[in-house]
Amino acid sequence: MESMGGTQMKDLFQGVYAGRKVLVTGHTGFKGSWLCLWLQELGATVAGFSLDSPSEPSHWDLLGLPIVDGRGDIRDETLFKKFVKDFQPEIVFHLAAQPIVRESYRKPLETFSSNVMGSLIVYDACRECDSVQAVVSITTDKVYENREWCWGYRENDPLGGHDPYSASKACADIATTSWRRSFWPPAEYGKTHHVLMATARAGNVIGGGDWALDRLVPDLMRATMTGREAIIRNPRSTRPWEHVLEPLSGYLLLGEHLWEGHTDMAQAWNFGPASEGVCDVGTVVEMLRESLPGLQCRVEEQSSAPHEAGLLTLDCSLAHRELQWFPVWDGKPCFAHTAEWYRAFLDGGRVISLEQLQSYVKEARRGQRIWTGSVLL
Ligand SMILES: NC(=O)c1ccc[n+]([C@@H]2O[C@H](COP(=O)([O-])OP(=O)(O)OC[C@H]3O[C@@H](n4cnc5c(N)ncnc54)[C@H](O)[C@@H]3O)[C@@H](O)[C@H]2O)c1
Repeated sequence: MESMGGTQMKDLFQGVYAGRKVLVTGHTGFKGSWLCLWLQELGATVAGFSLDSPSEPSHWDLLGLPIVDGRGDIRDETLFKKFVKDFQPEIVFHLAAQPIVRESYRKPLETFSSNVMGSLIVYDACRECDSVQAVVSITTDKVYENREWCWGYRENDPLGGHDPYSASKACADIATTSWRRSFWPPAEYGKTHHVLMATARAGNVIGGGDWALDRLVPDLMRATMTGREAIIRNPRSTRPWEHVLEPLSGYLLLGEHLWEGHTDMAQAWNFGPASEGVCDVGTVVEMLRESLPGLQCRVEEQSSAPHEAGLLTLDCSLAHRELQWFPVWDGKPCFAHTAEWYRAFLDGGRVISLEQLQSYVKEARRGQRIWTGSVLL
């Protein structure tokens, strides 16, 4: 793969990732694989720990990154703790989870156990490993008690969750707050401990390389690959859609601040799209079809389908104001770049993830996003 003039990429996020030891749990998954690609380009020494890739094809396998590839279950306490002790990470991004709503109805115990107890084992391993100084725990917009109202949820709104996935992530989020208060309180940082921990809540993430079952874009792409019609379940469901690189820029910015010891950043953060990215499923299909005209689907609303939220948006004022984090590919570009990735893959088996990362960074520089080092006017 062609690399982007190394130093430029390594200078992003104040250069804190260059030469740093970073652990990513869930690295074989959709978001984890993109995060490892970016960290690798930033010059970090990266290790991943996960179960095998949840899908075939697998973005992780397609990338073939030369990083430490640890396999196992985060609930296997002995195995995971040994892995952390051997690697001695400095920054940890925790993404490993069972992340599919429908699967959580099929396997509720597995979902709660992976997402809650799994997270606690990750935190405990970090507590026992002196090298760790920053932990970013990834949750979702679905942690909020959904009132189906038109306003975006703020970080201080009540947590809840109807389906087992949403509730398990809300539980994990509460456990994270408890862990921070109990073991790594920001007020005691530098006195009784040296770890800062934050939670990052993203919206509905799309982008190339996602092949998960029961997710809109992968379902559409699988159908396109095999010349079938995709079934759309909830055309009017409205979600905050964002390209995978958007929350990742937020996670990396947050990791940078925690690493630098900014105690006021050790809290929960929403990383969602601006209003352009909030739209219903039917609109998403139309936007993707602009770049993938072969995409065929039909609506089949099921009255007996398990409950899924109808309307969900995020208020990201906190990240805008305090972190100076803003989306780069909001709205149309998010869908166009997603379709472009799958078109390149479907047409010629090309994996354009690195090219897309480079164009994202260029666009972010042009837009003077703070993590690029550009000065805001
Ligand atoms: N994709 C989205 O739209 C979205 C939105 C908001 C938040 N999230 C969160 O982001 C994270 C990553 O999601 P994704 O979309 O990449 O999902 P994914 O299914 O593609 O990846 C999940 C990863 O977790 C690993 N994993 C699952 N259970 C494990 C266990 N018990 N032990 C070790 N590894 C385990 C899998 O092997 C895989 O590597 C999750 O925490 C998810 O809740 C995802």
